[in-house]
Amino acid sequence: MAPATLTALAEEKTLQESFVRDEDERPKVAYNQFSDEIPVISLAGIDEVVGGKRAEICKKIVEACEDWGIFQVVDHGVDAKLISEMTRLAKEFFALPPEEKLRFDMSGGKKGGFIVSSHLQGEAVQDWREIVTYFSYPLRSRDYSRWPDKPEGWRPVTEEYSEKLMGLACKLLEVLSEAMGLEKEALTKACVDMDQKVVVNFYPKCPQPDLTLGLKRHTDPGTITLLLQDLVGGLQATRDNGNTWITVQPVEGAFVVNLGDHGHYLSNGRFKNADHQAVVNSNCSRLSIATFQNPATEATVYPLKIEEGVKPVLEAPITFAEMYRRKMSKDLELARLKKLAKEQAFQDVEKAKLEAKPIEDILA
Ligand code: OGA
Ligand code: NI
Repeated sequence: MAPATLTALAEEKTLQESFVRDEDERPKVAYNQFSDEIPVISLAGIDEVVGGKRAEICKKIVEACEDWGIFQVVDHGVDAKLISEMTRLAKEFFALPPEEKLRFDMSGGKKGGFIVSSHLQGEAVQDWREIVTYFSYPLRSRDYSRWPDKPEGWRPVTEEYSEKLMGLACKLLEVLSEAMGLEKEALTKACVDMDQKVVVNFYPKCPQPDLTLGLKRHTDPGTITLLLQDLVGGLQATRDNGNTWITVQPVEGAFVVNLGDHGHYLSNGRFKNADHQAVVNSNCSRLSIATFQNPATEATVYPLKIEEGVKPVLEAPITFAEMYRRKMSKDLELARLKKLAKEQAFQDVEKAKLEAKPIEDILA
């Protein structure tokens, strides 16, 4: 069982057992050992078609998507004041006393609100994070009773933030559509009625950060994600299946953009669905705000274009709901196999111990 909030646990000397990960899942690189491998791309001039500015920017974006599926954008047009207001409110929310946050407790299947670790059920190990999440698009999905009402100003600021980020996401999807040789709206249209979900992540300082993760390794399921992070650092990416990791260098006012599974499938695998995780540290807490742009559940998932002689990454078109279901059941299956392997290893060791013992000791 996850604790109600992490406030008290963050003050303890040792990490509570439920957050301790298997050795192979623990951080390999420090939260503040930054890499500059992920490109930081300025969007200044992206609408200037004449003169070649747009083409130059698009090229960088496309290369990053082919390479990592992750990049950062600056000069993106989202007002710095709006960003700092959004960040301030989010920080203030997590600083509220536990009982205030728990007024929005979403455990038990509520859609939106506050929770420790994850809203997904059946996780074996807990993530060292608190989240507050809400659905912001389509408009009819907004349930304001699940949006925090504190601190004051949360609703108007988050509404504006959501709108601006929807605009930025669509702009980036236009670039990728063009790169695929399709009309600008191709990717957004493939989402049918684009969903947007905001997850504010709060990673308190952690007594034993080497044993745990703030957010375990994953790919985002949706089309594209825009992440705003503070300057602490902790977002890590891998492109060799977890062998080596890099920590993304935080850049003031930038959004980290990554593609999810949907974006990956629509591009027939040309664009990567970034494999990533978040690590924590014992010095200070960290805040990030993830804005997920997802297709409607009934949207079709299938490559929009398949080059001649290339095999499609999916056997047949499926709905986004089905894609998500398969992802979840694959994760559960992997967890099950891992558990079995661990039990087997334990039994093998016990058996070896037994076999090494003199027979008198066993009979005694
Ligand atoms: C996410 C995510 C990373 C971070 O919320 O899906 O990957 O650094 N967050 O908070
Ligand atoms: Ni993610």
